[in-house]
Amino acid sequence: MSSIIEISDLRKSYPSEQGRLEVLKGVNLSVDRPQSVSIMGRSGGGKSTLVALLSGLDRKDSGVVKVLQKDLSLFSSNQLIEYRAKNIGVIFQQFHLLPHLTALENVEMALAFQGVDGARDLAEKALADVGIDQRANHFPHQLSRGECQRVAIARVLVLSPKVVIADEPTGSLDVQTGERIMELLLNLVQQRDMVLVLVTHDPELAARCDRQFILEGGTLTLSSHEV
Ligand SMILES: Nc1ncnc2c1ncn2[C@@H]1O[C@H](COP(=O)(O)OP(=O)(O)O)[C@@H](O)[C@H]1O
Ligand SMILES: [Mg+2]
Repeated sequence: MSSIIEISDLRKSYPSEQGRLEVLKGVNLSVDRPQSVSIMGRSGGGKSTLVALLSGLDRKDSGVVKVLQKDLSLFSSNQLIEYRAKNIGVIFQQFHLLPHLTALENVEMALAFQGVDGARDLAEKALADVGIDQRANHFPHQLSRGECQRVAIARVLVLSPKVVIADEPTGSLDVQTGERIMELLLNLVQQRDMVLVLVTHDPELAARCDRQFILEGGTLTLSSHEV
């Protein structure tokens, strides 16, 4: 069985006035097949820290993080940027769209960095896949928050990553819009055989993932709600 995500004894601390602040104290997680995994836990518990390490945006103190069998710590910074762009899509609460580019251009931009041919067509298709091809030529400030998140999702999907990590993707959306975005993400995971790691505060959204974890006291444990 090929492992898609393999995290073992992952530790991360930050400097603080009282010495090191130990945030992750031995996190383990293994995802072997396309599925969705949710992570809940109190604010400040280390969820975004875990996202940063899993997506190669920051470096661990110790332990192992492998994505698609590649140990992220063995990459140089440039290799990591390239590996991440090809294989790991990250979606944030704040959409991080470029304000002076249209929805279509925001998605196209992700491809331009990869030197992909036919970027415009692919970007249009990605916008259609998230249901907002009608808004392709609108700028972020002309779009609702839910539409902005759809653009951010399209920007990730257009690169066909095998792993998508979403850090509170519905955190700045109203409940109904959040549910639609969640629906969209889960459908895409199914259709494209991806792994989704979803960080959320919402127990109902978490419950819709295949496996549910809680990050507490610096370690990850299976939630008792798991069926
Ligand atoms: N770059 C950093 N430098 C110092 N402390 C940090 C840094 N990033 C996060 N922290 C601290 O680490 C803890 C975990 O933060 P975070 O991973 O953002 O938690 P969560 O996403 O679960 O709310 C918090 O106490 C936060 O203040
Ligand atoms: Mg966070």
